[in-house]
Amino acid sequence: MCATTAMNTPLSPERTVVLFGAPRTSGSTGTLCDLFLSTCGGDVTVIDCFARGVAPCDDCGGCKKETRCVKRDMDDLYDAIEQATRLVFVTPVYNRSFPAPMKALVDRLQCYWSRRFVHGIKPPVATPKTAVLLTVCGSERDDGLCVQNQLEPTLTILHVTETKALHVKGSDGEVDWDTVAEQLNRL
Ligand SMILES: Cc1cc2nc3c(=O)[nH]c(=O)nc-3n(C[C@H](O)[C@H](O)[C@H](O)COP(=O)(O)O)c2cc1C
Repeated sequence: MCATTAMNTPLSPERTVVLFGAPRTSGSTGTLCDLFLSTCGGDVTVIDCFARGVAPCDDCGGCKKETRCVKRDMDDLYDAIEQATRLVFVTPVYNRSFPAPMKALVDRLQCYWSRRFVHGIKPPVATPKTAVLLTVCGSERDDGLCVQNQLEPTLTILHVTETKALHVKGSDGEVDWDTVAEQLNRL
């Protein structure tokens, strides 16, 4: 999988933005992402959070004065996310959360909260979306529900109307990827 992939299929109205949260594509998260991408049609853009490395939100207050983040380093990502019809988060679980670069990107979506609750713009993002959350965690005891709970308010603000999730556990052992592929197909 390459860091940023754009495939144009004019017949499909689906515009998918995949936020990839792992530091490398050769691990279990990369495998899960590739399985998902093999089922995708339409325009697909993959944002590699580690490679992109957006600045964290520092609560500068800029989005309370303007309707978008005043930091310019992810303007193209805001465009892609706003125009997407499907948002996909593919991430490993780190300390029952996202790896830091994905957390930084999610925090930078706070400008849409300001749009809704400071500027009174409803909906804060015009294009409605579905969301897919795909997580991988090393142990059998944890699962990606912790990440799902964290994301829920942000997804609401982003105009997500339906979320589907698949949480793969035990990736530090053996994962039955055929079963995961079947589960993905049923999503
Ligand atoms: C910094 C760090 C924190 C982690 N925290 C957790 C955790 O809280 N729960 C868990 O089950 N696995 C945890 N893991 C294990 C990863 O979720 C697991 O190794 C996963 O397969 C990593 O994704 P990758 O194979 O795509 O690199 C952690 C791994 C790292 C490096």
